[in-house]
Amino acid sequence: MTTHAAVVTVGIKKPLEIRQVPTIKPEGDEVRVRVEWTASTPLDLHQNDSGLLVKHPQVLGDGTAGTVVEVGPDAKRLRVGDKVFGFTWRSQQEKAHQEFCTTNEWLLAKLPEGFTLAEAVTLPNNFVTVFHALTVDLGLELPWPKPADYVPKDAEEAILIWGGASSVGQYAIQILHYYGYINIFATASKKHHNKLRAYGAKWTFDYRDPHAVSSILNTATLVGKKPGVPLILDCIGSKSGSISPIAKMAKRGATVAILLPVVVKDSSETEDPEYEMDVRKAAQWDEEVDARGVRTHFYLDNEFFKHHLQPDIMPMMLTEKIVEPNAQRLIEGKTMLERAQAAMDALRRKEASGERLVWRVSDESD
Ligand SMILES: NC(=O)c1ccc[n+]([C@@H]2O[C@H](COP(=O)([O-])OP(=O)(O)OC[C@H]3O[C@@H](n4cnc5c(N)ncnc54)[C@H](OP(=O)(O)O)[C@@H]3O)[C@@H](O)[C@H]2O)c1
Repeated sequence: MTTHAAVVTVGIKKPLEIRQVPTIKPEGDEVRVRVEWTASTPLDLHQNDSGLLVKHPQVLGDGTAGTVVEVGPDAKRLRVGDKVFGFTWRSQQEKAHQEFCTTNEWLLAKLPEGFTLAEAVTLPNNFVTVFHALTVDLGLELPWPKPADYVPKDAEEAILIWGGASSVGQYAIQILHYYGYINIFATASKKHHNKLRAYGAKWTFDYRDPHAVSSILNTATLVGKKPGVPLILDCIGSKSGSISPIAKMAKRGATVAILLPVVVKDSSETEDPEYEMDVRKAAQWDEEVDARGVRTHFYLDNEFFKHHLQPDIMPMMLTEKIVEPNAQRLIEGKTMLERAQAAMDALRRKEASGERLVWRVSDESD
């Protein structure tokens, strides 16, 4: 059996290790990719530091970017040598933090000209999360292709992106702006406000400002017809840091989509984390507020998204400059294990602000 190196969790809050895992030959429409770049995400930290949804040893990572090295007999779009990127998460064989990932070709996009793999790998997880959360949880239509004269039904209502500087938040603002939403509100540290305004946020607020909630409510009253803020995407999911203020702004009839898990207590070098999966229990919600937990892992239930979101829409939006990649913080290290561990440590120290932690996976890439 051929094997390759993978980075694995071995226990709660334990240092990562390298294990040899089977190299899977692609079948059907699968392809095998030499993983060259990945982006670490908070889910890696949740999984390593609490065991959330994992059984150790577990290969981590859901953002894959690299080169196709082998194709299955039914693969139609991809060829050996293609540079690709995608959100791949369902099983050990397609996780990202290993030298080779074997996955279906419809989870991968071809890298458009003019972009690096390190830039492109900031998209997949976040891009898919935005489409899934906005359509399934907030009930918005995001037609593709977008008709030239498309105007969304609630184009002028206030829509709040809490955590606009997070990776998901940055793509959410850019995508909502593209679809014609006018009154996009965003919370972020002040240093990110200009960038988020350039992406399409009309109103920006500092979430550390003790008056943020009243300022948002006052502005929302001026722009919309509905009470409070009728549509809210919480890209942070922190019980005290985002859900508690959001619950004060969501009035009867509002829909709130919260990225799971609810972080009751963040992991740090000295504290163990606590998570919760029921958003209804995370705050005292007004009557008739529809608060929902976002689960991007179900996005394949939508047949159109399954076949088009990653292979077609994602690279097209990059090429057309509808979205720009997140800024990247390059994580250095002599080996794959050192880079993976450095990224995990940076996540635990909450070092990423408005940027994605990206690192080279396989040492054998071109
Ligand atoms: N359930 C799902 O389907 C799903 C999918 C994707 C992500 N998630 C979850 O969503 C969360 C965010 O993921 P991500 O990758 O987008 O995170 P990220 O990019 O690592 O988030 C970092 C940003 O969070 C912002 N932030 C931290 N605390 C905040 C607060 N209280 N209010 C507003 N902004 C705050 C910081 O903003 P400033 O720089 O402005 O201070 C920082 O830039 C994670 O818990 C992740 O696991 C869930």
